[in-house]
Amino acid sequence: MEASLVLLCLCVFLASGGEGRSPAGTVLPLQVRVQEVELEAPAANRLRFRHNVSLTVPVAVGTPPQNVTMVLDTGSELSWLLCNGSYAPPLTPAFNASGSSSYGAVPCPSTACEWRGRDLPVPPFCDTPPSNACRVSLSYADASSADGVLATDTFLLTGGAPPVAVGAYFGCITSYSSTTATNSNGTGTDVSEAATGLLGMNRGTLSFVTQTGTRRFAYCIAPGEGPGVLLLGDDGGVAPPLNYTPLIEISQPLPYFDRVAYSVQLEGIRVGCALLPIPKSVLTPDHTGAGQTMVDSGTQFTFLLADAYAALKAEFTSQARLLLAPLGEPGFVFQGAFDACFRGPEARVAAASGLLPEVGLVLRGAEVAVSGEKLLNMVPGERRGEGGAEAVWCLTFGNSDMAGMSAYVIGHHHQQNVWVEYDLQNGRVGFAPARCDLATQRLGAGA
Ligand SMILES: *[C@@H]1O[C@H](CO)[C@@H](O)[C@H](O)[C@H]1NC(C)=O
Ligand SMILES: *[C@@H]1O[C@H](CO)[C@@H](O)[C@H](O)[C@H]1NC(C)=O
Ligand SMILES: *[C@@H]1O[C@H](CO)[C@@H](O)[C@H](O)[C@H]1NC(C)=O
Ligand SMILES: *[C@@H]1O[C@H](CO)[C@@H](O)[C@H](O)[C@H]1NC(C)=O
Ligand SMILES: *[C@@H]1O[C@H](CO)[C@@H](O)[C@H](O)[C@H]1NC(C)=O
Repeated sequence: MEASLVLLCLCVFLASGGEGRSPAGTVLPLQVRVQEVELEAPAANRLRFRHNVSLTVPVAVGTPPQNVTMVLDTGSELSWLLCNGSYAPPLTPAFNASGSSSYGAVPCPSTACEWRGRDLPVPPFCDTPPSNACRVSLSYADASSADGVLATDTFLLTGGAPPVAVGAYFGCITSYSSTTATNSNGTGTDVSEAATGLLGMNRGTLSFVTQTGTRRFAYCIAPGEGPGVLLLGDDGGVAPPLNYTPLIEISQPLPYFDRVAYSVQLEGIRVGCALLPIPKSVLTPDHTGAGQTMVDSGTQFTFLLADAYAALKAEFTSQARLLLAPLGEPGFVFQGAFDACFRGPEARVAAASGLLPEVGLVLRGAEVAVSGEKLLNMVPGERRGEGGAEAVWCLTFGNSDMAGMSAYVIGHHHQQNVWVEYDLQNGRVGFAPARCDLATQRLGAGA
């Protein structure tokens, strides 16, 4: 008989004790909001799985400024606002174009219309004459769509000193249709406020980042719905020391590779000390571009390609077997992609969550570690056991293939209490664990 070998694994984190110098960039409050409709277009040949919980920032648009709330999305390009027009409830127009003296519709034909939008899945196009509108059309994985015109106006970022006013292109959306826009009304959140627009933050030509020449931005997402902070521009040294991973570039266009995403190299996945036995080829984009890993503030949970997902599900379930009872219902899938599910009373699961094995997404030079409560999501409305004493919980990692995606996506739920910096200047993304509630207080960005 061999003696069993006990492996001890120490996960060392850098303390987040950055000294609070005043930031040189713009500080904005960042909030997690529940929204009822899915508002995001899929990229070319790639259906992005969306979720109705999003990060939002307050912005003032136009002259005089109109207050709007925009979803912060590092996974998409063109910013847009629901403009004047009529929408099915619960949507309401966010922005009255006629009420802004600085509003300008992009004319057609023009290079602005035909060239600037070249990175978009569906580039802007000239309306049929005699109209001279430059149309933008966003279509959705769930068969909903948004249409409008390409326009410019002034965006005023008001969160901190100094306020910054920039002119930017955006989609002024005048028609939005959705098969899923129903007001379920169960959340107590102001739906109309949550769904007024989107701030596109990827690396495409028409993204807010590219248009404003932002070379660096960072955020710290507080857990729950507490305020977080978004820093545009130089962070002035307020962030803790970060571990960086390089952005992946590929030279030739590939059908399933999003070249304007924040793409990083996933090198492995660990559960506790166990590195999952996943071949490197599964973690690397293939000849079609499928299999890239994106850091995306516009998606809530994290998605893994099927092989990696299966390995994670098996190892996590095995390591957690003394703490969590598997749901044991083979047909149960939460939101079409989450089927590593468990059952148990809230109090017991809450107590167990601190003992669960940490899941680490190992990137080149950095790691995104997920532990404790961030590992599980309680499925709303699902009760089990006598008198409904037990809730249903699913691992907050989903199966990309089940969601119709061909990429790994690191969503914002797993970026809670992490400083995440997008350093375009140096082509890298940085991560460091942090107390985001404290960082937000320190930077005075509390809502
Ligand atoms: C998302 O929306 C659906 C239907 O509108 C709702 O049933 C579900 O609970 C929502 N999810 C969250 C996390 O709020
Ligand atoms: C917009 O928000 C600012 C800051 O919260 C506030 O002072 C201002 O009154 C608001 N403007 C409108 C038109 O609601
Ligand atoms: C919306 O505003 C634009 C720009 O002012 C205007 O051309 C258009 O007619 C308006 N549409 C509606 C439905 O009010
Ligand atoms: C939009 O602004 C115009 C011009 O100020 C105004 O006449 C119109 O009533 C406004 N529309 C709404 C819905 O507020
Ligand atoms: C939403 O909830 C509020 C408060 O409970 C209620 O007054 C309202 O009628 C509800 N709206 C819908 C569309 O169910």
